[in-house]
Amino acid sequence: MALRDVVKDGDDILRKVCREQTTFDARLGQILDDMLETMKAAEGVGLAAPQIGLMKRYAICQMESNEIVELINPVVLAASGEAVMNEGCLSVPKKYLPVKRPTYLKLRYQNRKGETVEREFRDFDARVCCHEMDHLDGILFYDKAVKE
Ligand code: CO
Repeated sequence: MALRDVVKDGDDILRKVCREQTTFDARLGQILDDMLETMKAAEGVGLAAPQIGLMKRYAICQMESNEIVELINPVVLAASGEAVMNEGCLSVPKKYLPVKRPTYLKLRYQNRKGETVEREFRDFDARVCCHEMDHLDGILFYDKAVKE
C-alpha cells in the first residue's frame, strides 16, 4: 500500500464530473487500498477518487461502526429526511460548515469485485455517503452549506 497525495480545493479536478468505473481488477483493489491508507493517515472518514487525482466514480466511506464501505458507480434509489450537521473535507483543510443531508439513503453500487449491491444508510452513514458521492459530480460540501 502507498499513501497518495490529496488534491486540494482550487484544483480543477475537484470540479469535474467523474466517469464510470468499468474495470474491476487488481489495480482497482490496489487504488482502493491506497485510498484507505491515505484516508486513515489524514484522519478522515471518507475519500473519493477525484481527491487522489482520478476522475472515476468511486469512493470509500467510513461508517459510524468503523466499517469501510467502497462505493463504486453509486446511484441513489431513495432518500428521505433531513438533518443539518457540520462537515469538513480532506481537500478543504480547516473549513467546517453546516450542511443539510438526508437521514435515510438507499443506494445501488458495485463493490471491488464488480458485484451489484443495494444497501440502506442512515444518519451519519448517509451523510458520509452523500458527501463522497457529491465529489463524483464535482460538488464540494461548502457549495451546499446552510446559510447561518
Ligand atoms: Co470531501
